[in-house]
Amino acid sequence: MDTPRPFAPQPEPLDEDSYADDHDGIEPDVAADSAGRPYVKVPEPAPLTEHGPARVIAVANQKGGVGKTTSTINLGAALAEYGRKVLLVDFDPQGALSVGLGVQAHELDTTIYNLLMERGVEIEDVILETSVEGMDLLPSNIDLSAAEVQLVTEVGREQALGRAIKPVLDKYDIILIDCQPSLGLLTINALACADQILIPLACEFFSLRGVALLMDTIDKVQERLNPDLKILGILATMFDPRTLHTREVRQRVIEAFGDLVFESVINRTVRFPETTVAGEPITSWAPTSNGAEAYRLLAREVIAR
Ligand SMILES: Nc1ncnc2c1ncn2[C@@H]1O[C@H](COP(=O)(O)OP(=O)(O)OP(=O)(O)O)[C@@H](O)[C@H]1O
Ligand SMILES: [Mg+2]
Repeated sequence: MDTPRPFAPQPEPLDEDSYADDHDGIEPDVAADSAGRPYVKVPEPAPLTEHGPARVIAVANQKGGVGKTTSTINLGAALAEYGRKVLLVDFDPQGALSVGLGVQAHELDTTIYNLLMERGVEIEDVILETSVEGMDLLPSNIDLSAAEVQLVTEVGREQALGRAIKPVLDKYDIILIDCQPSLGLLTINALACADQILIPLACEFFSLRGVALLMDTIDKVQERLNPDLKILGILATMFDPRTLHTREVRQRVIEAFGDLVFESVINRTVRFPETTVAGEPITSWAPTSNGAEAYRLLAREVIAR
C-alpha cells in the first residue's frame, strides 16, 4: 500500500469511503496503528461443523448513542457471515435493534417482555428470523419498560434474562445482548447472564467519563452475581480520522485499556444511519464499505479472543 495514511489533518473533507482503502484496522498487515501498536494479523475463523453452546456477550455502556445497537446488528451479521449461528437480544425498551432490522416492534404481540413476565411463553415463539441467514432476533418494544418496574419485586430479579435464554443456549454460537443506556435492572440482568461484555466507546472528549462507573458496576456484578463475567473488549466507535481530537481520544483509550481495545475501529459515517432506515446490516447494505469491513475485522477478533 503506497498511499500515505491520512493521519495529518486533511485540507478538505474526504467523502464517506475514501478512507476505506487505507484505513488502519482494516488492513491488519500494516505495521502499526495510529497509537503505534503493532498489528496482529487476525485470522479467518475456521468453519464450524456443529453449533452451540453459545457464548453470551452483553453490548453495554450506560452512555447513550455510542453505537451499542449499531455494533450489535453489524457484529452479529458479520459473525453470521463467518458461519456462526447468532441470536441478537433487543434488551432496550426503545426497540432500536428490532427497528434496525426492519421489524415493526410496536406491532408485535409477543416480545421479550412476555417471555420475562408471563408463564407459558416459549422463547422459540418469540424469536424471529432476520434477513441475515443464521441470525435471529429476540425482539422488544416499549412494553419492556414495564418489566424493569415489575421485576423489582420478583425473587431472582437479576436472573430473569438468564432464565429466559437458557433453553436456546445450545442452538447458537453467539448471543449478543443490546443493552439500554443505563445501569439499571435490565442491564444488570444482561451482565448477570453474560460470559463477556463488549463496551463501545465513542471517540469523543467526554467518552471516558462514566467508564469508571461502568467498571464499578462490572466489579459488583462479578462479586455478587456472576464471578465469571469478563471484559471481552473495548470498541472505539464514531472515529473521525480527519480530526486530531478523535485520534487523541482513541490514544487515551488505548493508554487506559491497552490490549482490551479492539484493533477494529468504527469510523463515523452516514452509512450507519442509512442502514437503520434500510432496516438491514451494513454488511448487506454496503458490503464493500469501510464500515462493513471494520465489523468483519471485529467479528474475527471476537472469534479469536
Ligand atoms: N459509526 C457511526 N457513524 C455515524 N453514525 C453512527 C455510527 N454508529 C451509529 N451511528 C448512529 O448514531 C446513532 C446512535 O447509534 P446507536 O443507536 O447504535 O447507539 P446506542 O449506543 O445504541 O444508542 P442508545 O444509547 O440510545 O441505545 C444512530 O442514529 C446511529 O445510526
Ligand atoms: Mg441502542
